[in-house]
Amino acid sequence: QQIRLIGAPTDIGASTRGASMGPEALRVAGLQATLESHGLRVLDHGNLIGPANPWQPPVNGYRHLAEVAAWNRTVHDAVYSALTAGEMPMLLGGDHCLAIGSISAVARHCRQMGHPLRVLWLDAHADFNTHALTPTGNTHGMPVAVLCGHGPPELTGIGGTCPAIQPSAVRQIGIRSVDEGEKHFVRQSGLQVFDMRYIDEMGMKRTMKAALAGIDENTHLHVSFDVDFLDAVIAPGVGTAVKGGPTYREAQLCMEMIADTGRMASLDVMELNPALDVRNGTAEVALELVESLFGKSTLMRR
Ligand code: ARG
Ligand code: MN
Ligand code: MN
Ligand code: MN
Repeated sequence: QQIRLIGAPTDIGASTRGASMGPEALRVAGLQATLESHGLRVLDHGNLIGPANPWQPPVNGYRHLAEVAAWNRTVHDAVYSALTAGEMPMLLGGDHCLAIGSISAVARHCRQMGHPLRVLWLDAHADFNTHALTPTGNTHGMPVAVLCGHGPPELTGIGGTCPAIQPSAVRQIGIRSVDEGEKHFVRQSGLQVFDMRYIDEMGMKRTMKAALAGIDENTHLHVSFDVDFLDAVIAPGVGTAVKGGPTYREAQLCMEMIADTGRMASLDVMELNPALDVRNGTAEVALELVESLFGKSTLMRR
């Protein structure tokens, strides 16, 4: 199967600038050639185009809602086209608000094909805010809520079916920063959250076994990888770094166990911010983890 790289160079949903350079940082780190070196077929579709970041304060709890909606419609169409063409979309973010477009497209594809969907949300944050709960107005803190139907119609309606997904389709892993109001809403919605406390106590192996439980040969596994999932020590190049995340080894095991399922059918790599990085090291670490997601291992060659 061919992998289709889709760049979405924007920081429209964040209040720290620079995630707009994420796609290029991954390319500079050697994304395409590295994946090809493992025998994968990769086509780089270049970058999507959308509105510039007007850099305005939030209005009614949303920063840049019109621009966020425009970007997400474009991402939705691009990801949906890749799936329709039988390719595996890999969205290069861009801030995490773009997962609205990406995952709504995946959900639409799954409804059409009759495939059960499982979303693995690898992140320091739950991204389950609403306009009423958000302390920042940043839509990159809202995509999971929007996908579950909580948000403005210009976002929840992208893809035609609202809600795009059910909370029961989602497993969140690595969570360690949830806002006060957001905590209550996460619990109320029944989202399954494997937070850092869970990983500390159970280890990454048992965490991933639990997060991957119940998937079968029909399951479409979507991985939404917010690079701030990683401990800030190994991944400083993100806009909202949080200490106390998975180590390099824990993150590798997480990715390897996802690869072992053989079910990953779409991927987002989000929030990479080279403006805050040191010599593109975070892009390089992210790429090493993506290699594992695609099945790289020490002794097996694929
Ligand atoms: N919870 C915070 C907010 O709503 C931070 C969200 C960070 N999200 C992200 N995708 N990096 O602003
Ligand atoms: Mn995050
Ligand atoms: Mn499919
Ligand atoms: Mn996120």
